[in-house]
Amino acid sequence: MAEKRPKILKVENLSKNFGGVQALRGVSLNLRAGEILGLIGPNGAGKTTLINIVSGVVREDAGTIFFEEHLLNELSPWQRAALGLARTFQHIQIFAGLTVLENVMCGAHRLRKTGFWETFLRLPRAVAEEDECRRQALSILSELGLADKANLPAENLPYGEQKKVVIARALASRPRAILLDEPAGGLNEKETEELGEIILRLREKGLAILLVEHDLNLVMRICERVVVLNQGEVIAEGPPCEIQNDPRVLEAYLGK
Ligand SMILES: Nc1ncnc2c1ncn2[C@@H]1O[C@H](COP(=O)(O)OP(=O)(O)OP(=O)(O)O)[C@@H](O)[C@H]1O
Ligand SMILES: [Mg+2]
Repeated sequence: MAEKRPKILKVENLSKNFGGVQALRGVSLNLRAGEILGLIGPNGAGKTTLINIVSGVVREDAGTIFFEEHLLNELSPWQRAALGLARTFQHIQIFAGLTVLENVMCGAHRLRKTGFWETFLRLPRAVAEEDECRRQALSILSELGLADKANLPAENLPYGEQKKVVIARALASRPRAILLDEPAGGLNEKETEELGEIILRLREKGLAILLVEHDLNLVMRICERVVVLNQGEVIAEGPPCEIQNDPRVLEAYLGK
C-alpha cells in the first residue's frame, strides 16, 4: 500500500564535509507522497544538514536531490519553494514587529502574481490578491487553533504558539512536501500532543512530511517509517516498531 505511493522527494548519495567534519556520507532516502517519514539520530548526526541541503540553504559536496521530476541541485531555495517544497527551521524564526497573520501571509509570497507597483498603488488586482492571501492565511491559522491570535504581535505569543506560527507560514506557500526541523523542540507534553495531531491532519490533506525530531514518542506515534542517521550515515530504516528494537539504533543513542 504505502509503497505504491509515488516518491515525491528522492535524495541519493548525499555527502557534505564542513572543514573536516563529515556531516553526511552517502545518505539516500525517499519521501513518498502523503507519508510522514521520521528522521532521527543523536546530536550532530547530520539531520539539519540534510534539510539545509534539500532546501538549498547549504550546498552539497556530492549527491542528487529530486523533487518530483525536478533535479534540485542547481536551484535556489526560492525556486525549490516555488516547486512546492517548504521547510521550517530548528531555531524559531518569527518576524518580530509583524502580527501573527502578517507572519503567515509572508509565506504566501511565492504565490503572488501582482508586482511592486500594482501593490504599492493598491490597484484592484493587487487588493483582490491580498484579500485572498489574508483569507487563506486565516484559514490556516484556524486549522492550527490560532485564529483568535491573528492580530497580535507574533513576538508576544508563548513559545509553543510561535512554533505553530512558523509551521503556518510554511503552509501558506501551499507546499506538497514540508521538512520540519524539530517542531516539538521546547514544547511541553500537551503542546507536543497537539502538534502530533496537526501533523497527522496535514498528512490527511495529502502533504508529505519529513519530520526531524528528538521526541521519539512523537516520532514513534505518528511516523509510518523512520530513517536513523548516526555520524552522517543511515544506520537503520523501517517502521517505528522495528527501529525501536534495532540494536544499531540503541547503540547509537545509548553507546555500547
Ligand atoms: N555550517 C557548519 N559549519 C561547520 N560544521 C557544521 C555546520 N553545520 C553543521 N556542522 C557540523 O556537522 C555535523 C552535523 O550537524 P547537524 O546540525 O546537521 O546535526 P543534527 O543531526 O541536526 O544535530 P542536532 O540534533 O543537534 O540538531 C555536526 O558535527 C555539526 O557540528
Ligand atoms: Mg539539527
